[in-house]
Amino acid sequence: MAEKATLIVGDQRIELPVIVGSEGERAVDITTLRQQTGLVTFDPSLGNTAVCKSEITFVDGERGILRYRGIPIEQFTNKPNFVEVAWLLIFGHLPSRDELTEFSHQLTDNELLHEGLKHQFQHIPVDAPPMAILSAMLNNLACFHQEFLAVEDVESLTAAAARLISKVRTIAAFSYRRSQGLPLIYPDPNLRYCANLLHMMFSLPYRQYIVSPEVEDALNLVFILHADHEQNCSTSTVRTVGSARANLFASCAAGVSALWGPLHGGANVEVVRMLERIHEGGLSAEECIRLAKDKESGFRLFGFGHRVYKNYDPRAKILQGTCERVLGSLNRRDPLLDIARKLEELALQDPYFVERRLYPNVDFYSGILLRAMGIPTDMFTVCFAIGRLPGWIAQWKEQHEDADSRIIRPRQVYTGPNQADYVPIDQR
Ligand code: ACO
Repeated sequence: MAEKATLIVGDQRIELPVIVGSEGERAVDITTLRQQTGLVTFDPSLGNTAVCKSEITFVDGERGILRYRGIPIEQFTNKPNFVEVAWLLIFGHLPSRDELTEFSHQLTDNELLHEGLKHQFQHIPVDAPPMAILSAMLNNLACFHQEFLAVEDVESLTAAAARLISKVRTIAAFSYRRSQGLPLIYPDPNLRYCANLLHMMFSLPYRQYIVSPEVEDALNLVFILHADHEQNCSTSTVRTVGSARANLFASCAAGVSALWGPLHGGANVEVVRMLERIHEGGLSAEECIRLAKDKESGFRLFGFGHRVYKNYDPRAKILQGTCERVLGSLNRRDPLLDIARKLEELALQDPYFVERRLYPNVDFYSGILLRAMGIPTDMFTVCFAIGRLPGWIAQWKEQHEDADSRIIRPRQVYTGPNQADYVPIDQR
């Protein structure tokens, strides 16, 4: 018999269904709660609320497990192909050779930006934050590709997804070139996804940037590890905007804005700034830990802690190993990696972090790896966004295909003044 939860409020007793996910997660279904009792639930920041059913990504924060469509994240680390993972997330299965080839062609065919959009880069201040540019330009795609304002079938969704996943890379590279005062370099249709981004960022009109296989693989891996993470802040934003039937471009642009925040994707920038401060002698590792524990300081140990993971984030584990491997293969040493390791060691021995079960998250090591590839700090969160885009698209698609999906519109508990009268200005 299906499990039920019983709720007793005053002299009213109601039964609520308990739904069970495919990995055994249980949730009390309160869909009829307000209708039956007049009550709402109070769950600030939605720490205890499942807002949807989803088949895309499974996270078990207690055991440190992350799977895309059932496949453990660790299985993508050997010969990474981000485009394959993007397809898996969006369409629910690994692509056949033909599907992958066709989708890759669609990405190549759509890598250029409309000249009208390209000209807009000239009017952006050179010191503009790349995440602001990315969000604005993704939104702007809606002006140049109005045929995708309504996406009615899988073909048009695939075409819109291909445009976004392809053009985000060009936009990212152009925003970097703009910040450097360098001429914009067009994409090279002969290069694969990651190599093409690096080419557009680093080639010069008179000198082609040669991408090393280690760097290309590492960037692929970074994108894969960021590709989806169920109902995180930016994905919830994409779903909230999408629930109003806003178009895919507008929804993903909103996701970029949420991701920018230092408590979310922007943490990868904050981590490296923190490590640099320690390296330059402005702060010691011990002082950093002390400040993080002091609530008055307003300081957080960036790259540590997670709403869901109460164990080591599996992405951080993979990234730590990859940092060592890539730096080794490039014959480089980065003192920031030693500092990060020391901070981790100090934190994991400290009762404050142990009791709160705060471990390194995805952002703790990703910046060090991106630095090793020559990616500048203010492009770290942009790289996160490029990686996360397939996840946002997959979640937007799932929501649009869900017949039960309604506009997201939470309730509140009003704590303001009771009814009051308007007082004319000369009587105040
Ligand atoms: N440094 C110091 N204290 C922390 C940290 C941290 N990084 N993270 C959590 N805590 C403390 C909280 O203050 C809280 O203390 P309290 O119980 O004494 O009040 C306790 O640990 C529990 O915090 P949570 O409820 O688990 O944190 P929450 O879910 O609200 O926030 C978040 C999660 C935003 C990630 C938080 O851990 C944080 O600010 N981390 C640093 C920023 C960061 O790395 N963000 C990236 C996250 S991954 C991603 O978004 C891609």
